[in-house]
Amino acid sequence: MCGIVGYVGRTSGRADAGHTALDVVLEGLRRLEYRGYDSAGVAVVADGEISSRKKSGKLSNLLAELDARPLPEAMTGIGHTRWATHGGPTDQNAHPHLSDGGKLALIHNGIIENFAELKLELVAKGVEFASETDTEVAAALLGDIFRNKLGGDVSDGGLTRAMELACQRLEGAFTLLAVHADQPDVVVAARRNSPLVVGLGEGENFLGSDVSGFIDHTRRAVELGQDQIVTITADSVAITDFFGAPAEGKEYHVNWDPESAEKGGFPSFMEKEIHDQPDAVGQTLLGRSDIHGKLTLDELRIDPALLKSVDKIIVLACGTSAYAGQVAKYAIEHWCRIPTEVELSHEFRYRDPIVDANTLIVSISQSGETMDTLMAVRYAKEQGAKTVSICNTNGSTIPRESDAVLYTHAGPEIAVASTKAFLAQITAAYLLGLYLAQLRGNKFQGEIKDILADLAKIPAKIQRILDNEGQIKELGQSMADAKSVLFLGRHVGFPVAMEGALKLKELAYIHAEGFAAGELKHGPIALIEEGQPVFVVVPSPRGRDSLHSKVVSNIQEVRARGAKTIVIAEEGDEAVKAYAEHVFYIPETPTLLAPLLATVPLQIFALALATAKGYDVDQPRNLAKSVTVE
Ligand code: M6R
Repeated sequence: MCGIVGYVGRTSGRADAGHTALDVVLEGLRRLEYRGYDSAGVAVVADGEISSRKKSGKLSNLLAELDARPLPEAMTGIGHTRWATHGGPTDQNAHPHLSDGGKLALIHNGIIENFAELKLELVAKGVEFASETDTEVAAALLGDIFRNKLGGDVSDGGLTRAMELACQRLEGAFTLLAVHADQPDVVVAARRNSPLVVGLGEGENFLGSDVSGFIDHTRRAVELGQDQIVTITADSVAITDFFGAPAEGKEYHVNWDPESAEKGGFPSFMEKEIHDQPDAVGQTLLGRSDIHGKLTLDELRIDPALLKSVDKIIVLACGTSAYAGQVAKYAIEHWCRIPTEVELSHEFRYRDPIVDANTLIVSISQSGETMDTLMAVRYAKEQGAKTVSICNTNGSTIPRESDAVLYTHAGPEIAVASTKAFLAQITAAYLLGLYLAQLRGNKFQGEIKDILADLAKIPAKIQRILDNEGQIKELGQSMADAKSVLFLGRHVGFPVAMEGALKLKELAYIHAEGFAAGELKHGPIALIEEGQPVFVVVPSPRGRDSLHSKVVSNIQEVRARGAKTIVIAEEGDEAVKAYAEHVFYIPETPTLLAPLLATVPLQIFALALATAKGYDVDQPRNLAKSVTVE
């Protein structure tokens, strides 16, 4: 949800480090803005004072405010970009929030669940509140502890000690960053169930919701554990738990560069990320098998005996990642013969699910921070299940808390609408399915080798679709006035249809639904009227048990009722031409792998239509990239 940055450099100013705290913080916020863009704010410590600016709306509003009312040069600062939870997206509710007579500034990501009770307590002490946020309560609590409990004494921990005491009182999920005018060379941060990483520099240190907050300055990062506090100065990083006991973080090297988080000449991150997809799939496949075609998933450190005893798989995920899970279900059940359920993470633990030591939980999350999925994984672990995370973000919470991880290597996904992560997740789930089939002897080695060879051809096939994107782009642009678009698919085409609809909803803000084509006659066909656009994902006509003719019948059913049909079909499928206003061909590929291709035209369509409507495709309204609240 919100994006957070903190920085401390040597106090000698810009000349020494080449940048000020504000330079670093604003650059970090620019990269983290995908996490929320309801408001943005910064605070710096200079000349024994806190100076802050904050503005509702996107970061550009804050930049204009800073132009009009510049901040003093400083080497200690914090910055925040907000996705609103408590209180609307106003200037007043924007972070930082101040306390201790304006000497303390605090920013927050998450939700303080006991804020109402704490607020009553603070109001009784005479504290006045200016916003509707839970964050201001945390700021007031911290200020009260610093001033009234510790007497403003900075000789014995000061702000760090105050943060420990405050965190002992806070319930919920939070990352907090605070600065105090009496400790000008320090940023103190705390995390519980919400992301925070440290960046290690030379004579400067950084904090960020994720590494993009400081990727321009260092690739050395430190993961923090749950319930930890970190105090950074220009030359030190000290980690403790919420009771002051020393703790350790885990240092790692960030293996992507700042350029990969830039637009690379494309007008939007989303367009760039759609074009990254051949690489995202290729990288996710890289190094997963030996020369004999045997899959070797080194990261999957679960005892093979345990994996052999699995009698049920439950995939947990939300949004696009859940559609990746639905695609995976078809492949895993087919290849491994293990019953596989796919459950939206936020529904999972509330239905008393049947989970035991023979259940394998596969969570899928691009960010690795989705709170609904994290909570579902924790619940499953408590029931004794083994947990594997498919994740795109190194060092994030869900893989850290899982028994094993299979990283997708899609590179940073900045646009809020997921594209390349989706294809990489499907690819990783296929690898997991094939690995289980190999381990359990469900498939001959030669069969696995053949499927891997088919997967290896996918990047080039995606590239062919991208090289011919003009026709689908034009269609998207021409349909900017559409009020509703329906998507039909069967078998693996069904989750593809739902993903196509989700892209259109979140980017173009129009009604879009994905249906299983066979379900049409059970109700949804009543929606069809003259001119209703309907996308149909048609399965390959090749092979045994093809659903092709059934889907062609479904096309005829909607056309008979006036629908305008737009068909995604396999090259060489001439039969569909007679039933479609528009046909987009994708290269031949085995049915189970087809989602890796069929999704791409739907992404391009949604992008083109939303762009034609003049919408910001990277930052759609009301959304945030990483949903770290339940
Ligand atoms: O980071 P995650 O994969 O856990 O995120 C899950 C969903 O929030 C995410 O896929 C969301 O649906 C996207 N906006 C879809 O484009």
